[in-house]
Amino acid sequence: MLRLDSVHAGYGQIEVLRGVQLNVERGEIVTLIGANGAGKSTTLLAVSGIVHVRSGTISFEGKSLAGLRSHEVTSLGIAHVPEGRRIFKSLTVLENLRMGAFQRHDNPGIAQDIEKVFSLFPVLGERKRQLGGTLSGGEQQMLAIGRAVLARPRLLLLDEPSLGLAPLVTQTIFSVVRELNAKEGTTVLLVEQNARLALDTASRGYVLEIGRVVAEGPSRQLLTDPRVIEAYLGEA
Ligand SMILES: Nc1ncnc2c1ncn2[C@@H]1O[C@H](COP(=O)(O)OP(=O)(O)O)[C@@H](O)[C@H]1O
Ligand SMILES: [Mg+2]
Repeated sequence: MLRLDSVHAGYGQIEVLRGVQLNVERGEIVTLIGANGAGKSTTLLAVSGIVHVRSGTISFEGKSLAGLRSHEVTSLGIAHVPEGRRIFKSLTVLENLRMGAFQRHDNPGIAQDIEKVFSLFPVLGERKRQLGGTLSGGEQQMLAIGRAVLARPRLLLLDEPSLGLAPLVTQTIFSVVRELNAKEGTTVLLVEQNARLALDTASRGYVLEIGRVVAEGPSRQLLTDPRVIEAYLGEA
């Protein structure tokens, strides 16, 4: 479904991605783990058309994403939930969700999907007229994911959904991610610093170090890989 081939990308003179190679098949949850600064967010930004790809190719459902703007990538069926959950703080929960549907015109479908988000995250339904900026961190993360759901993505790019959240809230969010994958068939590329959580959620994973994939495989295998244990999982 998604394929990155020898992708090089960066900022100004700095090269961050140095030949990233990965693929995600339809229906999978795949995780990308790695230390702070490895280039995980940059990888997602490159897929989304926000960071320019210098060389290499990214394709989605067989089509190259080269040169596409981020709204064009979204319209192909890819939704990106960025690190730091950039919701609109001065818009209500409902307005934030409607922003996620800005490229859709099927009002009944949009209303249905808003109800779906409220059933996935009941607290958002309770707070639908509240301003985004007044929500807790966990609720803002739920809203950011809900807003992505409103784009009806076939591929969801999730960047550090657990960052700064309490374990219980993280559990809620991850169980919704699994549910979106299992019930809606949404494919997920998950970037997550908590490597154990990431590998428990995904069926496969890639380990990124300084802009390159240095290990990959089924999660079960990565969870028992001594290098992965030493660098990312700590002592069991
Ligand atoms: N907007 C930017 N301008 C310049 N350098 C950046 C920018 N964003 C990230 N970087 C640098 O790119 C590298 C990779 O960052 P990032 O992809 O955010 O890593 P990760 O998500 O794995 O923590 C880091 O060294 C970071 O400082
Ligand atoms: Mg990051």
